[in-house]
Amino acid sequence: MDIQTRINEYTAEINSFEATTAEETEKFRLRFLVNKGIVRALFDEFKMVSAEEKRALGQVLNQFKVLAENKHKSLLEGLDDKSQVGDSDQDLTLPGRGFKLGSRHPLSLVRKEIVEIFNKLGFVVAEGPEIEDDWHNFSALNFPDEHPARDMQDTFFIEKKDGNDIALRTHTSSVQVRMMEMGKPPFRAIMPGRVYRNEAISARAHCFFHQVEGLYVDEDVSFADLKQTLFFFVQELYGEGTKVRFRPSYFPFTEPSAEMDISCSICKGSGCTLCKGSGWVEILGCGMVDPNVLENCGIDSKKYSGFAFGMGIERITNLKYEIKDLRLFSENDIRFLKQFSTEII
Ligand code: DAH
Repeated sequence: MDIQTRINEYTAEINSFEATTAEETEKFRLRFLVNKGIVRALFDEFKMVSAEEKRALGQVLNQFKVLAENKHKSLLEGLDDKSQVGDSDQDLTLPGRGFKLGSRHPLSLVRKEIVEIFNKLGFVVAEGPEIEDDWHNFSALNFPDEHPARDMQDTFFIEKKDGNDIALRTHTSSVQVRMMEMGKPPFRAIMPGRVYRNEAISARAHCFFHQVEGLYVDEDVSFADLKQTLFFFVQELYGEGTKVRFRPSYFPFTEPSAEMDISCSICKGSGCTLCKGSGWVEILGCGMVDPNVLENCGIDSKKYSGFAFGMGIERITNLKYEIKDLRLFSENDIRFLKQFSTEII
């Protein structure tokens, strides 16, 4: 039988071939498409025929090959369809599987809450770089040259640069400087972000943590404005009736400076282990922006005054959720993190 006749017969066979199972489909492949299959054999035979016959047969043979391949493809597709429709142990009425949403990190939740409270008072959010130079992190903020924070043991330095070393910022107060340098008063902003210190990691200290800085500079800003702003903040965050007290303190960039305590959110002031029996817990540092700082940033300290404050987000979060080990915040332990998934995102 010549090639042409056989191709005709095989074509008829392929067209009428039916398969309902994977095995039958595989039989088709083995008969026509594998190395020792019919298509390949016909091509081998084709090589032997005369040049004249080649001309007549070439196209026919190629079409035959495509026919066999397409048939196999459609047999496979038919199998897929059938397995979905015919498989009786699949219940197509079952509801879909829901996605499990992750949860916000507790520090993000608290940062968001803090930002929202200050937004109500007209504070905008500003950010600055975590890799900072000496000027913005220390000098402009009135830190003397010999201040211990400039020590390698306290700060992660990245590069020595004559008089303006590069370091990981040790607090968000650097963003105050960037903000004041860039614009003109009034400034009313909060500045959340990550800060770094060269500390041994323990339950109570870490080499990085988060702060929120606040700055308000305008004409006639007084310590009374500072107290009222922070009082409002505390009532919003910890509930009405939370008491505040200001203790005199020292920071190079504020004068006068204070630390603010709130009545213990756990024992409500009666004394517990968290407040070490005192009824009070410290939550932030604050003060009136030192005139030197204003001048360093190109602001007329005779015309303008302002207050600033800075708080650790970890500390506020610990108080809110009674978390006792700082390391939990960065260990990515799902058992810890998923406890916050009921919070509104
Ligand atoms: N930068 C201070 C720190 O990291 C916190 C601070 C204290 C910020 C007083 C202020 C402030 O803006 O007025 O410990």
